[in-house]
This record gives sequence, structure tokens and C-alpha cells, in this order.
Amino acid sequence: MENKMGSIDFRKDFPFFESSINKGLVYFDNAATSQRPACVNRAVEDFNNFNNANPLRGLYDLSVRATDLYENARAKVAAFLNAPSDSHIIFTRNATESLNLVAYTYGMAFVEEGDEVVISAMEHHSNILPWQMVCSAKKARLVWLECDASGIIPASEWQTKITAKTKIVSVAHVSNVFGITNPVKEIASYAHKVGNGGKGAVMIVDGAQSVPHMKVDVQDIGADFLAFSGHKALGPMGIGALYAREKFLEQMPPFLRGGEMIEYVTRESATYAELPHKFEAGTVNAGGAVGLAAALDYIEKVGFDFIEKNDNALAAFIMNGMKTIPHVHVIGNDDPDRHCGIVTFTIDDVHPHDIASMLSSENVAIRAGHHCAQPLMQKLGVGSTARASVYFYNTQKEAEVFLEKLSGVRKWMGLS
Ligand code: ALA
Repeated sequence: MENKMGSIDFRKDFPFFESSINKGLVYFDNAATSQRPACVNRAVEDFNNFNNANPLRGLYDLSVRATDLYENARAKVAAFLNAPSDSHIIFTRNATESLNLVAYTYGMAFVEEGDEVVISAMEHHSNILPWQMVCSAKKARLVWLECDASGIIPASEWQTKITAKTKIVSVAHVSNVFGITNPVKEIASYAHKVGNGGKGAVMIVDGAQSVPHMKVDVQDIGADFLAFSGHKALGPMGIGALYAREKFLEQMPPFLRGGEMIEYVTRESATYAELPHKFEAGTVNAGGAVGLAAALDYIEKVGFDFIEKNDNALAAFIMNGMKTIPHVHVIGNDDPDRHCGIVTFTIDDVHPHDIASMLSSENVAIRAGHHCAQPLMQKLGVGSTARASVYFYNTQKEAEVFLEKLSGVRKWMGLS
């Protein structure tokens, strides 16, 4: 498939763009959530209309069908991430729940007093708060890998801060503010060599912003755990996944306890179900999982070559355009190829909320705020920023509209 920026080939698959309600809307908030192609909505609807039964429990045909659809969805996620087997995939609600699952189970069981947990300065709150909780409960220390103003974490950071005391390293694959891709493979390799007294620290990757945009191979990058959300990858909200190496899943206690995660229960105790069901208590979101599988099929149809080329071409177009608008400042790297389609920016003397409000009145949707990364905002010396984030269905025409409206923001605020 030819990568022609401005192509509308895919847009006809998205009811969102076809509908009169959203006519002319420039949707540039894809890092917050992506739109869904009709095939994803249809897969969920078909499950609800024709295949709905409680999976994993019933012995009648309909329940077996629902179970097969749910387990096929797991197989899809496993193949998409190149997990060694389906049992390495736990369905969760989203990346946040996946990261909390690891913190509450692996973290609370294995982090001890005096240990260190290493994260980076650009983490989303979902990859900060769970580790603050573990460190505080276990009297461990939270250690921060610093980045420079271009979003780069120098190798010296992880080579000095990951030490024999490090039990866990948990880093965003792609920053939701800078859009930069962190060298998680190199960090994992170092953590596995040096951490935990030379036995190897556990490497957790927050894949929320990477999985929709690039080929992520969990074995290649050396992730012990990887978290992602379905809704940023064309899937429904309320479904996400955690990839985990089996040896850790075997060691970890369950996260939630209840139905379907047990082997046998007595009045006094319980034994737990085989993986992955030990970590999926209660009735699961089977319709969501089926929708997520359809979304990953669609991403494969589009192809990561196309996605990356379009992300980079649009980021370049937007960043070049911003250079011609006085008082606009891009946060992070000068190289658009290192933004994963995310362009975070400020305008002198205009609050980012005003930027987003003004653009909204011109039918352009971007995010403004702290992006759930307040420690990074504090480091950058800003309270908040504005952020435009694109995906493969966005076009150059939309970027032109965005830039034109952006150039009017200061005037709209009564500034020259
Ligand atoms: N984590 C999402 C974002 O960055 C919501 O916008």
C-alpha cells in the first residue's frame, strides 16, 4: 500500500469520520483515545447479538462458542506481541489496571526494605502511583531516570541508577508527552544483568503509546511485563492486556479473588486456576476482547510501515508549520521521526486550556493539561501544555486546518 499522506482510503472504514455529526472535525487527540473502524464495532455487536454467554463456565454450545471467541482474542494479542504462548496474556481493563496488577502482586510480594524501583521522569501517573504505593509500603526507594529537554534519557542515567539494589525497572516505551521512544531493549538488557544483586531486575514496559504505533515484540525488547490499552489501538474502552513472562505469573499471588480464578475452594483456603485464569477473576469482558482482536487485525491490515510513515510525515508537517507561527514552542525532540505522531507545545502568554478551547470552537480537537505526567511538567517548568496527536487516518489537509487555526490563537486572545 502506498503511503500517500492525505489519503482518505481508511477513513471510509470509520463511522466516526463518515457521520454528519463529526463532519469537518479535525480529531488530533489520538494519544488519548483512537477512533474505531466499523469492523471493531461490528465484532462487539455480533458478540452481543449472537454469541453472548458467560465464557469459561457453561457446558452448552453457546457458552463454548463465547469461550472460543474470548480465547481466540487472547491468541490474537499473544501473536500481535510475539508472546511465546497465549497463557502469557492477561486481559485487564486497560494499561493502568495492568500496571497496578503487577505492582499489587509482584511488587507487594517481592519488593523488600532497602530495594529500589526505577522509573523515568516522563512516566504517566499510572506508572508512578503504583510504585509510590509499593515503595512506601515496603520501605523501598523510588529512583528516577532523568531525561534532557529533547526527551532523551542518556545511557549514563540507567547505567548509574540501575544497581544491585534495583528490584524493578518500569519505563514507558513511548512518552505520551514527548512522543519519544525510549531504548527499553537496552535498559532491559542492563537491568537483567545488573539488577537484584546480579540476578536480574524485572523489566516492565508501559506500552500504552507504543503498541498502536509500532511493531512491539515483547521477546525482542526483553520485557518481563508489558501493559497496553485497547482503546488507543482502535479497540473498545474497558479492555486492555498485560503480557507477562510465565515464570513471574507462576510466582505471583492473584490480584483479585473470586469466580473462575480457582481450582478448588474449601472453607479455609483455595488453590488457584492455571494461567492465565488465575489473574482473571469474575466475569470477563469477552465482547471487549473480541473487539480488541478485530482492532489488532485491522492494524495489521493497515501495516506498521504505513502507520509509522504517516505518523512521521504528519509530525514533520505540523512541526515545520509551527516554526512559522511566532510564539509557538514544541516540547521535546527537534526530529519529527522521534515523536510517534505526538506534538506537545506551548504558546507564549496563552494558557493551554485556552488553546484547546479556541481550537475546539474551530472544530479542532486536541488535548491540553498535564497529560497525567505532572512530575514531568514540574521538571519542564510548565503547569500544563497543549498536545496534538495523530494516527494513520489523519491527513495533511487536517494538519493544514489545524495550523491555520493555531496561527489565530494569540489574536483570538487579544495578543499580537
Ligand atoms: N493517557 C492518555 C493521554 O495521554 C489518556 O492522553
